[in-house]
Amino acid sequence: MSCVIVFVSRHKGNTKKVAEEIAKTLGCEAKELTEVTPDEAMKHDVIGVGSGIYAFSMDKRLKRLFENVKDAGGKKVFLFSTSAGPDGKKYHKSLKKFLQKRNFVIIGEFNCLGEYSFWFFGRRTINPGRPNEEDIERAREFAREIQKGCTLS
Ligand SMILES: Cc1cc2nc3c(=O)[nH]c(=O)nc-3n(C[C@H](O)[C@H](O)[C@H](O)COP(=O)(O)O)c2cc1C
Repeated sequence: MSCVIVFVSRHKGNTKKVAEEIAKTLGCEAKELTEVTPDEAMKHDVIGVGSGIYAFSMDKRLKRLFENVKDAGGKKVFLFSTSAGPDGKKYHKSLKKFLQKRNFVIIGEFNCLGEYSFWFFGRRTINPGRPNEEDIERAREFAREIQKGCTLS
């Protein structure tokens, strides 16, 4: 079975770090959304889809990759994200529903905290240094679980 990871990481590269570690563990490529065509993504047996959480949602452009798929025939997808707040998986919901409607099967979800900087009477940063080594190890563990379930090569 083959796998590809598609991600958007537009704030600090937090999700890119996670995407690359998951890819390394699975032995597949991690590609920015802009580098992948729908046909290319659909060639793989498993697609990992990740992004930061932006305004309570995964990056909306990820949906475009799959919008012309009417029936994915049970193709396996896993979702991952980084977010400023805990429990970021709840923000996967919209993309998850969108994919399930097209007959993709969600085989796993991962989220960890990510550093976030914003201006509020000066520059503020929350979750500095996240994802950290512990987060990355959790991401690797998640990838190993995915691998066990799918026999990736
Ligand atoms: C425009 C913007 C909106 C964001 N909205 C949320 C949000 O609604 N909830 C949340 O938990 N984090 C939010 N964040 C924080 C990001 O999810 C977090 O910093 C993430 O790790 C960014 O990942 P990236 O570096 O891969 O883009 C937001 C960040 C930005 C820049």
